[in-house]
Amino acid sequence: MWNEIDQHMQHWIREAGERIRDAFQTKLKIETKSSPSDLVTNVDREIEQFFIERIRRTYPTHRILGEEGLGDELQALDGIVWIIDPIDGTMNFIHQQRHFAISVGVFQDGVGMLGYIYDVAFDELYYAQKGKGAFLNGTPLPPLEKTTLERSIISLNATWVTENRRIDPHVLAPLVKKARGTRSYGSAALEMAYIASGKLDAYITLRLSPWDIAGGMVIVEEVGGVVTNLYGEPLNMIEKSSVFVSKPGLHEEILAMIKR
Ligand code: IPD
Ligand code: CA
Ligand code: CA
Repeated sequence: MWNEIDQHMQHWIREAGERIRDAFQTKLKIETKSSPSDLVTNVDREIEQFFIERIRRTYPTHRILGEEGLGDELQALDGIVWIIDPIDGTMNFIHQQRHFAISVGVFQDGVGMLGYIYDVAFDELYYAQKGKGAFLNGTPLPPLEKTTLERSIISLNATWVTENRRIDPHVLAPLVKKARGTRSYGSAALEMAYIASGKLDAYITLRLSPWDIAGGMVIVEEVGGVVTNLYGEPLNMIEKSSVFVSKPGLHEEILAMIKR
C-alpha cells in the first residue's frame, strides 16, 4: 500500500511544482494572515486544493490536515492522515522565487510513514518511506554521522537571540558563539531537508505547526537524525511547538547547553 501511495505522490508533487513554477509568470494575489509577516497567496491555496482533490479521489477514507484549512478539522491523528504545507517559505516564494518547498507527511495512527519535501525552484525532491530509506531525486541519502557543535553549521533565526516573546535571548546565544557557523533559510521544511542531506547539522526554532515539519520528520528520522522540541521531548503532531532537529551526538551536546 505505501509503495502505491508513494508512486501517486511522487507524480502529484512534481505536477504541483510545475504549477508553482508556471505561477511565476502570473501576478500573485498576496494577503496577510495573523501579522504582516504571515503571508498567503492564491498559489498556496490552489496547491493545497490540488492535493486535496487528488487525495480525496484516490483515497476517500484518508483525512487531510492542510495549513490553508481546505482539508479536514482534526482533533487526533488516528487512521491515515496527510499533513500538507502547500508552500513552506511563502515569504521567500514572494520575495525571492526560491528557497521554498512543498512539504507533505503521511501519518498512520500518529506514526510518520511517508515524507516529502520538494524544493520547487531547484527541482530537488527529498522523500522517505519509514524503514525503506530516504532519497534525493532517487539517490539514497546516507545515514547521518555524529558531530560536535564546533564543527557544525546550525540553522537559527536571529529573532531567537534578540528580545522576543518566546525565549530569553541568552539561552541560545552561546550556541551561536560556539558553532562553526549559523544560517537561516526561512523554510523549516528545507532546513530539515538540509539536515537530512548533510548541508546543515542542526535547526532550532521556537514555534512551528505540524505541517511545517511533518514531511521533514519522516525524512530526517530515516537517516538517523533526531527530531524533538527544544527540551528534547517528543513532538505532538497536532499542536504547535518548539522544534529542535539535529544530527546524532550534536543533539545531546546542544541539549546539555540549553538545560544548563
Ligand atoms: C514558515 C516557514 C518559516 C518559519 C515559520 C513558518 P510558511 O512557513 O517555515 O521558516 O520560521 O514559522 O510559518 O508560513 O511560509 O508556510
Ligand atoms: Ca510552513
Ligand atoms: Ca505555508
